[in-house]
Amino acid sequence: MTYAKITGWGKCVPPAVLTNDDLSKFVDTSDEWILSRTGIQERRITHVELSELATLAAKRALAAAGLEGSDLDLIILATASGDSLIPNTASAVQRNIGACNAAAFDQNAACSGFLYGLQMGTAMIKSGVNRRVLVIGADRLNYYINWADRASAVLFGDGAGAVILEASDDACGLLAAKLGCDPERRDILEVQGPGTYVDRFHTSACYNIAFEGPEIFKRAINGMNSACQTALSDAGMSGSDIDVIIPHQANLRIIQTLAKKMGVGMEKVMVNIHKYGNTSAASVAIALCEAVEEGRIQAGSNILSAAFGAGLTYAGVVIKW
Ligand code: ACO
Repeated sequence: MTYAKITGWGKCVPPAVLTNDDLSKFVDTSDEWILSRTGIQERRITHVELSELATLAAKRALAAAGLEGSDLDLIILATASGDSLIPNTASAVQRNIGACNAAAFDQNAACSGFLYGLQMGTAMIKSGVNRRVLVIGADRLNYYINWADRASAVLFGDGAGAVILEASDDACGLLAAKLGCDPERRDILEVQGPGTYVDRFHTSACYNIAFEGPEIFKRAINGMNSACQTALSDAGMSGSDIDVIIPHQANLRIIQTLAKKMGVGMEKVMVNIHKYGNTSAASVAIALCEAVEEGRIQAGSNILSAAFGAGLTYAGVVIKW
């Protein structure tokens, strides 16, 4: 049987740090409000194109795997904030890393995008279509921020993370995945402005991220909990088998609630929201890289990862390292 082993990983977070106190100087908010409601202390922001962040993460993942760009068959870039709609941003990354033999496309499942990409890349390898796949999660949601709207201005950070999947006989990689989407209230989280649905917002120049926080909170927990339970069951595991949880970093209270529902103590949960805020599709990928860098993930570790995002998409996956 063929598995899709994760052989390389890399992240790129921009160097510029925007703290809660910095934000309080031009947004009507406070460090106390942001920290107590979300767990965020600071975030990274940048003005470079998304493809630059994604390229750096990709180059680091290739180096860790000992591969060249030309070794890749496929590039999946999960993002909701690419350089342009046409052409896709994956092709810019492809050019930058010299992946002359690869197919490349963007995919938008918002903050769940990296886990969606991981399952798609794994399926391509398991089916025998591809042997080496680059999956990137990258977002620059601060591009869409209306800084006069304090509800959204405090939540997001920019960044990118990437992994290399390679065909392997080792029984590792993505063992089980449950992806889903709950469209009933797809209106509770949206970027207003870009897209063809302009009649509704009468604007294409001024963007805004609008959301109903409490409703997202409830639906995110329900979606991730059911997806994780299904993935665990499909992998023949329970919460006690899990060594590390890598959750989407949108809110510390959501992360704590999910860990409790999984029966896993917070000491096993990777948390970096205090440093980066919500980096959307990059969030799980960056947290995964940092968990490896910190030695929290070792060969054979069982990882449970969960995410939710606009749509409302959600995902729960079990990975053996
Ligand atoms: N600083 C100070 N006060 C603020 C701020 C701010 N940055 N933002 C909102 N407030 C005020 C509001 O105006 C409101 O004041 P009022 O009671 O006088 O009307 C009060 O704080 C409470 O506002 P809520 O929106 O109800 O705040 P809540 O406790 O729900 O926290 C939060 C908001 C952190 C977004 C929470 O709902 C949450 O984490 N939701 C899930 C995650 C989420 O929605 N993330 C954003 C979308 S991205 C994604 O989910 C993938």
